Amino acid sequence: MPSFPSVKSILLAGCLSASTAFARLQWSPCSSNPALDCATLRVPLEYAEPQNQMSASIPLVRYKATVATSQRKGSLLTNPGGPGASGASFVLNGAGEAISNITGGFYDIIGWDPRGVGSAQPVLQCFASAGEEYEASSDLPSAAEVAYGQFSNQSYMPSYNAAMQEFDSKTAQLAAACASYNSTALYTSSAAYIVRDMAAIVDALDGKDAHLNYWGLSYGTIFGVEFIQTYPERAGKIVLDGVFDATANAGTYVSQLPNDQLSVRDAINDLVSFCEQAGAAGCALSIPPANVTADITTRLANLQDSLYEYPIALSQGFSITVGIFSSFMWSFSRVPTTWPLISSVVSALEQGDTTPMVAILNATAASPPGNPSAPDTGSLAEWPLQCVDNAPSSGITLAEVAALVLNVSLSEDTPWLNADVTPLSFCRHFPDIRPRIPNLGASKLSNANSILTQRNTTVLIVNGENDPVTPLASAERLQSQLATASRLVTRRGPGHTTVSVASLGLVKTIRNYFTDSTLPTSTVYDLSQLIFSSAIDAGTLAPAPVFSGTYSDAELTLLNSTYNVLLAFLSIA
Ligand SMILES: *[C@@H]1O[C@H](CO)[C@@H](O)[C@H](O)[C@H]1NC(C)=O
Ligand SMILES: *[C@@H]1O[C@H](CO)[C@@H](O)[C@H](O)[C@H]1NC(C)=O
Ligand SMILES: *[C@@H]1O[C@H](CO)[C@@H](O)[C@H](O)[C@H]1NC(C)=O
Ligand SMILES: *[C@@H]1O[C@H](CO)[C@@H](O)[C@H](O)[C@H]1NC(C)=O
Ligand SMILES: *[C@@H]1O[C@H](CO)[C@@H](O)[C@H](O)[C@H]1NC(C)=O
Ligand SMILES: *[C@@H]1O[C@H](CO)[C@@H](O)[C@H](O)[C@H]1NC(C)=O
Ligand SMILES: *[C@@H]1O[C@H](CO)[C@@H](O)[C@H](O)[C@H]1NC(C)=O
Ligand SMILES: *[C@@H]1O[C@H](CO)[C@@H](O)[C@H](O)[C@H]1NC(C)=O
Repeated sequence: MPSFPSVKSILLAGCLSASTAFARLQWSPCSSNPALDCATLRVPLEYAEPQNQMSASIPLVRYKATVATSQRKGSLLTNPGGPGASGASFVLNGAGEAISNITGGFYDIIGWDPRGVGSAQPVLQCFASAGEEYEASSDLPSAAEVAYGQFSNQSYMPSYNAAMQEFDSKTAQLAAACASYNSTALYTSSAAYIVRDMAAIVDALDGKDAHLNYWGLSYGTIFGVEFIQTYPERAGKIVLDGVFDATANAGTYVSQLPNDQLSVRDAINDLVSFCEQAGAAGCALSIPPANVTADITTRLANLQDSLYEYPIALSQGFSITVGIFSSFMWSFSRVPTTWPLISSVVSALEQGDTTPMVAILNATAASPPGNPSAPDTGSLAEWPLQCVDNAPSSGITLAEVAALVLNVSLSEDTPWLNADVTPLSFCRHFPDIRPRIPNLGASKLSNANSILTQRNTTVLIVNGENDPVTPLASAERLQSQLATASRLVTRRGPGHTTVSVASLGLVKTIRNYFTDSTLPTSTVYDLSQLIFSSAIDAGTLAPAPVFSGTYSDAELTLLNSTYNVLLAFLSIA
């Protein structure tokens, strides 16, 4: 994590009144990368109480515009989603330079840690210490131990329900801990508060009531949609990439889960067909083990069922269970550029070799804190943040959760999404208290559409066709809610957000929108980046990108930069 030396000293300086909150920003070179600038903005902690003196501090990172000052077009904020992902680290880890390259260097690219997370203060803690936080995180199962192959067998239901019960009770412990720790950030960090911070950031950067320019990815689209409803007069150039459905998000996760899981099977089908097309030279999974003749889809399902019956024991009491496999596949299904390595890992596992998978699990596992009695770092904030943006959920029963997961799994014909049940279990055990300023959700979109239309302001919505997390249907719904104030452009193929696989047509659309306000001329673009190829290094999760066709240097910069935004995304995931 980057460190923001100014944060602690400002907090220790005591509480300034809210009216002095928007003092000048003091930029200095960031300690982890002096090529970028860091600053801290103080904002009111509780926007519902303007007279309350408590404040929050929001770390900002700036990658400066590269054009002459006279050509500069202002600031462009970006947010990588989560909820709870560090936007400051995102920009520091390469997204600042890459987004600047894509947008012609005209903007200062600005990342920030949304309140409650990263280096923001107060941080949304669930425990008193980093040691307890780490233990709770290690105890949290990534997915339920369920065997998909049995879903249609009624006699399996008792085992299924028991597995869901076990999963749910572990998640309940964490929800109870977060609620009882009662961080001051717990009920002051919802989307309604975050968009007020965004307005304060733009005020401080570009002047009072200046327009917001924004590229929001994944859950960052929720902040974009909340912002344009709260401040329709302040919408500048807004790109919403990988759309979370704001209507579903305003309800409980019971409406969110089936809504988000519409394209999981499409993404798996893409993996299978791209792998088959590449053949042995590009995709290890395309060759079945010697004694097997089934197709890839069947082999993946068989592997799943085999791990349910026979988890593979490793040293030190660890084993590869069906739940670990589901969560592994679910995580990487979102990022097609990792599929060459993932295919070789799965191919090895199919033949009984666990080493490649264990190496990835080891490399991506959180390490224990150096000092267990140091404060909780807020790494578990994602779950309570999801709850406070959803409707109160304590009325949801475990039976409903189990029935819903079964239904969605059957309709997508895969068990991998069991890895996405945590918010449902967590929020049903979380208090029904919500922040004092309610989120607008999607309730004022029609009003926002009128005002944006009058102002001749168009939101650019972009989405992958087979995005397993934020399906195209959510982007289409948002486009229809902003019928005369938005355009939707899609990118063919799988992957979460459009940056997950580079497309020249798509990235040019984004560039032209930000640089000359040009609206798209086409509604769908092909991929330019290969997913499997013998030219791709299958030994790493972040191989050098390989593009189809020939491109000019300017085009290659756009494609490389798209991939670099993805790498910055992965570096904070
Ligand atoms: C941005 O463009 C410059 C010059 O074209 C290049 O050197 C640099 O690698 C690019 N950065 C990214 C992140 O693509
Ligand atoms: C259903 O599951 C039961 C118990 O696990 C098993 O004995 C039975 O063979 C299964 N039936 C089918 C049709 O697979
Ligand atoms: C949690 O803290 C808030 C103030 O931040 C307080 O109003 C509330 O009563 C506390 N709730 C519990 C259950 O302690
Ligand atoms: C294939 O052979 C391996 C090793 O001999 C064995 O462990 C596995 O069970 C066999 N698989 C099938 C489907 O027969
Ligand atoms: C993974 O980590 C475990 C425990 O730290 C260690 O014993 C094992 O050697 C590691 N395996 C690989 C493949 O890195
Ligand atoms: C499961 O699907 C059936 C048929 O599509 C539907 O009637 C039922 O309401 C669904 N149940 C849940 C919990 O989603
Ligand atoms: C509206 O904006 C577009 C570009 O965003 C521009 O081409 C068009 O001329 C504008 N129309 C009016 C009436 O200002
Ligand atoms: C694009 O990135 C590759 C390495 O991944 C590099 O070899 C190439 O020079 C880059 N091209 C441009 C124009 O940035």
